[in-house]
Amino acid sequence: MKRIFICLFSLLTLSAARAQDKFPIHANMNKVKLDFELDAEGKPAYRVYYGDKPIVNTSYLGIKLANDSAFDKNFVLTGTEKTDVDDTWQPVWGEVKNIRNHYEQVVVHLKQKNAPGRLMNIIFRVFEDGVGFRYEFPQQPNLQYFVVADELTEFSLTGDHKTFWIPGDYDSNEYQYTTSPLSKVDASVLAKSATDIAVRFVPDKYGVQTPLMMKTADGLYINIHEAALSNYTSMQLHVDTKTFKLTANLVPDAVGNKAYMHAPCSTPWRTIIVSDKAADILASKLILNLNEPSKIENTSWIKPMKFVGVWLEMQTGKSTWNYADRADTLGADGKLIPNGKHGANTANVKRYIDFAANNGIGGVLVEGWNVGWEDWFGNWKENVFDFVTPYPDFDVKAITDYAASKGVKMIMHNETSGSATNYERQMDTAFRFMNKYGYTSVKTGYVGRIIPRGEHHDGPWMVAHYVRVAEKAAQYHIMLDAHEPVRPTGLQRTYPNWMACEAGRGNEYNLFSSGNNPGHETIMPFTRLMGGPMDYTPGVFNINGYSTVPGRQIHTTLAKQLALYVTMYSPLQMAADMPDSYEKHKDAFQFIKDVAVDWDDTKIIEAEPGEYVTIARKEKGAANWYIGAITNENGRDASIPLSFLDKGQKYVATIYADGDNAGWKLNPEAYKIAKYLVNSETKLNIKLANGGGAAISIKPATGEDKGLKSYR
Ligand code: NOJ
Ligand code: CA
Repeated sequence: MKRIFICLFSLLTLSAARAQDKFPIHANMNKVKLDFELDAEGKPAYRVYYGDKPIVNTSYLGIKLANDSAFDKNFVLTGTEKTDVDDTWQPVWGEVKNIRNHYEQVVVHLKQKNAPGRLMNIIFRVFEDGVGFRYEFPQQPNLQYFVVADELTEFSLTGDHKTFWIPGDYDSNEYQYTTSPLSKVDASVLAKSATDIAVRFVPDKYGVQTPLMMKTADGLYINIHEAALSNYTSMQLHVDTKTFKLTANLVPDAVGNKAYMHAPCSTPWRTIIVSDKAADILASKLILNLNEPSKIENTSWIKPMKFVGVWLEMQTGKSTWNYADRADTLGADGKLIPNGKHGANTANVKRYIDFAANNGIGGVLVEGWNVGWEDWFGNWKENVFDFVTPYPDFDVKAITDYAASKGVKMIMHNETSGSATNYERQMDTAFRFMNKYGYTSVKTGYVGRIIPRGEHHDGPWMVAHYVRVAEKAAQYHIMLDAHEPVRPTGLQRTYPNWMACEAGRGNEYNLFSSGNNPGHETIMPFTRLMGGPMDYTPGVFNINGYSTVPGRQIHTTLAKQLALYVTMYSPLQMAADMPDSYEKHKDAFQFIKDVAVDWDDTKIIEAEPGEYVTIARKEKGAANWYIGAITNENGRDASIPLSFLDKGQKYVATIYADGDNAGWKLNPEAYKIAKYLVNSETKLNIKLANGGGAAISIKPATGEDKGLKSYR
């Protein structure tokens, strides 16, 4: 259904003087209101309200060009256009089947007063849950090719909001969140102490990353991020800790520039999502709606799935990625000397394939299969991997045949160690290799300093690189899961083969470092996941069995690891633990076997950043629902009304809950599983332990379930 009204409320030919009379220009959608005006100096400014509460006070807009001209003042208004759009579209995969795209758009046409009278438009879209805006540069005689030196976009916030932030690091998002008022932001201390992150670069003490989540004293939730980031650089925010004004801080390239543009062109969208309910922030589709539809026409080969991997054994030191201990000490035969601990050997990989096949898990990831891991990162070395040469104990052909015979898909691993130039040269060869050996997805990685040297993970060169990889992968019908990329901005709508990213502090930090705080996973959906799915690698059952450092462990209960399959959305979802671990807890593993990865519907039942998140999702094309409920370091009672179930239908709920005395630190592996009959009138009350959670599967009852007790 498509409904578009265009009403030109002032013609492009309006004189500047007459147009000035029309200020301010308004747009609104229910409670969200936007004002735009040019001030006395011809500076563009906007304000955002939620109901009658200002969310963003007068904030200026503009762009600075490298040749020292600035698009920030001396503008006249030459016209505005208003459009209402209300349509609905279907993502290839996602959290819901149908997405409504309902907004009022205002395009503000600006012209500089002084010669040569350059043109810039600002496009605002006002949705029920927030605002998106972007700068547009129309085709014009006096602005063709130009270099963006800075973006002057401001977000003048109205108070010292409670903020969930990580440092504005140009190279990494793999931080724990700090919860503090805006006035207390100081990224420098954190950046210095985060020694478990390979590459860090935090030039601005007051710089924070987006998506930035905030809560006002009067209970409004505000999220600032961006949408459709390609051909530009990523936006971080500089916080004025006195006035609470945030200013765009664009990540530079190696020579200090931010973007290279050719009109007609536009910037990514800047997004402000707002609601008085935290759950609405998680349910928002504003960022996806601001992205372009799929560029891939035939998407039938794109298939969400779960996977296991020869991976955790390396993360925990049981085996190694590298085949030899040293690259430069060879045996008498002139070959690498095997260290005897190499994880990606044929027999071991076959064990994982067997495990996947026996448990209905779609894919197997294998890391450390290809030569180069002896000195793979830390040396800023350009040519580390060729992406096609296996170690001698990894029989790629035999593994492919074995996986195919068992109906399991192999997942390729292309670690680039930050050498994007090398990967660009090898990409076609690498993807042809995947096609030849039947790999349908690839996990990429960018650990280490970036090459081209001087570029950053989140800078413009790399932003374009990640998109090139997604496009190239699509040509070869390969699905993509990128580790260490720039954080996502909804581009999965445009490139639906770009299934997931890391770009945040994953569960793996619970394996190899001091870990993630128990509240971490209650903040991630409000921050990192606002831009797109995350390969968080949930499902570790052996909570304190892996660390060689005393006192280190996973910072959750086992039941919470199950709940993460629902609360941390991803269409590629890993069962991260080793098969032995799952064999010990077959009853709990049943949830991972059952849980879906693609959804027809999603209900955010209750949520509060830093505190708790409870989400229910309906499996795509089926009647089954799955619920995940998680809490931070405090225990709580989750209250879950099942009113979303079909009226009159009986269901069986299998509840995987924390054991009676469970707690993330002292008794994390205690869980209990119970089955009940439920219906749409049922309200579940479930105790979550400190650092705990619960996972629930709900399926239509059959004759066999007659003997089950009803939940009360
Ligand atoms: C870091 C990634 O996040 C992790 O999943 C991977 O195993 C290593 N790099 C090696 O590529
Ligand atoms: Ca990582």
